[in-house]
Amino acid sequence: KRKMILDLDTGIDDAMAIAYAVGAPDVDLIGIMSSYGNVVVEQAAHNSLQILALLGATDVPVYVGEPHSSTTEHFDVMAISQQIHGKNGIGEVALPDPQRQPETQSAVDFLIDAAHQYGADLTLVPTGPLTNLAAALKKAPEIAHEIGNVTIMGGALTVPGNVSHYAEANINQDAEAANAVFTSDLNLTMVGLDVTLRTLLTKHETGQWRDLKTTAGEKFADIVDYYIAAYDITSPDLHGCALHDPLAVGVALDPSFVTTLGLNMYVQDSGEDYGRTIGDPARLADPDTNITVALTVDKDRYLKTFMSYLTDLFKQ
Ligand code: BDR
Ligand code: CA
Repeated sequence: KRKMILDLDTGIDDAMAIAYAVGAPDVDLIGIMSSYGNVVVEQAAHNSLQILALLGATDVPVYVGEPHSSTTEHFDVMAISQQIHGKNGIGEVALPDPQRQPETQSAVDFLIDAAHQYGADLTLVPTGPLTNLAAALKKAPEIAHEIGNVTIMGGALTVPGNVSHYAEANINQDAEAANAVFTSDLNLTMVGLDVTLRTLLTKHETGQWRDLKTTAGEKFADIVDYYIAAYDITSPDLHGCALHDPLAVGVALDPSFVTTLGLNMYVQDSGEDYGRTIGDPARLADPDTNITVALTVDKDRYLKTFMSYLTDLFKQ
């Protein structure tokens, strides 16, 4: 089984990423790091614990990460995040108290220890800002050569961003951290908006969860229906909600869901295109590329796998 760590700003699609990783047969989810982003970092940790409890995965430890970006002293949740994920991050749905606390070790130290311990067997999937990963790289640069694979949800190559014309939300939260991650020696795959906006979920699928008549099925249907309703307002042309974060977990486990292009990229960390993920013109001809960028997705096969993992999990 693949050792996996998720690094989440636990909003609604992050919650679906947890369910995908818990439901996938070939994953040993060894921990969840939390990030600020859709919610504040303590809320992200709390939401992860609640979702794990809902799924019966009460043995997965949760670690609290950095509370704000690497260049600021404070973080405020954006109004658009609250609109899309709800004020509590999980669609205003009330879940029982998780009966567990986050671990006392920091998320950054947990990641460094896991990289030393598991090396190439470790897969990391960050689906929030890249602040925790950049902090770990700064503290222990050797982990760039140790971690087997890092697959992020973030960025956009062929489409505009979703928080500015140039920037996708996760990268925009901390472009300096993202740039440190992009230009490191990590084995990095970027699952950006190019593909996540093409993998959509509708009320047809959440209705199937509701029909299971289990607590997990009904609660997840309530949570994701909130997200679908928000998308109906903010992105009515899509006719569904984007499976941003669970797609990154899917690609980490089965890269054949997407076609990719190797590029030398960096992240713009100043000016009007702050947060843009873009090819490095100075390294256009360098065959030793630093990022594997997802370009197209087999959305039908992915959705089938997604539904089979989550539905089987919610049945239990
Ligand atoms: C990303 O931003 C967050 O709001 C989502 O959870 C996802 O990780 C999409 O841009
Ligand atoms: Ca996220």
